Amino acid sequence: MTTPTDNSTELHATDWPAHFAESTRQNRGNAIRDLLSVINSQETISFAGGLPAPETFAVEECAVATDEILAREGRVALQYGPTEGHRALREVIASQYRALGVQVQTENVLITSGAQQGLDLIGRIMLEHGDLIMVEAPTYVGALTAWFGSHPRYVTVPMDDNGMIVDSIDALIAAQGKPKFAYSVVNFQNPTGVTLSRERREQLLDKLQQYDMVMLEDDPYRRLRYSGEDIPSLLELEGARLGADWNNRGKVVHLGTFSKTLMPGLRVGYTIAPAPVIRAMVIAKQGFDLHTSTLNQMIVTNLVENHTIERNLPNLIALYRQRRDTMLACLDEHFTGHAQWTHPDGGLFVWLKLPEGYNTESLLPKALERNVAFVPGSGFFANEKQMNTFRLNFSNMPQDRIVEGLRRLAGILR
Ligand SMILES: Cc1ncc(COP(=O)(O)O)c(C=O)c1O
Repeated sequence: MTTPTDNSTELHATDWPAHFAESTRQNRGNAIRDLLSVINSQETISFAGGLPAPETFAVEECAVATDEILAREGRVALQYGPTEGHRALREVIASQYRALGVQVQTENVLITSGAQQGLDLIGRIMLEHGDLIMVEAPTYVGALTAWFGSHPRYVTVPMDDNGMIVDSIDALIAAQGKPKFAYSVVNFQNPTGVTLSRERREQLLDKLQQYDMVMLEDDPYRRLRYSGEDIPSLLELEGARLGADWNNRGKVVHLGTFSKTLMPGLRVGYTIAPAPVIRAMVIAKQGFDLHTSTLNQMIVTNLVENHTIERNLPNLIALYRQRRDTMLACLDEHFTGHAQWTHPDGGLFVWLKLPEGYNTESLLPKALERNVAFVPGSGFFANEKQMNTFRLNFSNMPQDRIVEGLRRLAGILR
């Protein structure tokens, strides 16, 4: 018979972090997601997050599509599927990009669980521990989160109203070396709302050739344009240069998503890239989730084929344009002389800069006390943080709440 001589372990809670990898202990997660999880009160006027307006979701069309799919192909929809994605969806995406002039075949398309998974998979297939990545300053915080596990170093490209300052790339590479890849949110960037100009896109493609550098183009927002002219993506501009040779000589990997034009909850996005990249991503995805939900991919296919996006987009754009204009008018009214801000032609965000010395992280609790939320800018910087910046989302709140929220925020800042 054995009798425990020391049962003191029963008195202690399990110290889970002691069992975690060092990188898990260090990863503080995404501050915005943490913030969102505490903002659940209806009273809070939230300019945080990047939520589309739920009233724009095609709920009925989604229900009809789901019923149809389950009735006609239920046993396919609920079965395991190929890692590459539902073939009909890959084909329709490839044909849309061919219509834009890029020689994209079905083998160049991988369906991912949101564009976010594309960011993660690219990190998995490309990064060694401590590799260098070129990003904009500021950049999309979710990309930094996706790559955290590789402990990358960053070289940051400054931005102005025309997006990343491509002219600065030579000096940055001379000083810090060639990055493993460069990353840009080219249209209505998250967090600044700024768009990379056409001239700079061409210039950037020249740099990719000059340095034999590959580029990750993250483009969730292109269709959400409220003013100004549409600009071809880096992928299209490269496709126009390379023609049929794109699959051999292309250097741009392009991430897209249905989150902003349809609904984010289905978690359907895609990556377009030369075939070797897609093959490597497929292998990485096999260890991640085997494949993106078949039913959700079939719903998206149905909604694309039924032109639901095209039918809904004008309303979506009209609503977001109105909200953007309301936000910009309120900023003019309350913030002139106290802050500088961007004037986005689309997307979901306005970016503000307060005078030097302000710290928006310490302003946030004061704002939350008055039931207003925003995202401090610090988390969006890979290297040097500008503590006097913050991001405001305009898509998720009705006009009257935007007006009231900015009135309160102005009061707090004064
Ligand atoms: C720049 C950028 N990339 C990727 C994503 C992730 O999108 P998805 O919902 O497709 O995963 C977002 C979401 O806000 C984003 O702003």
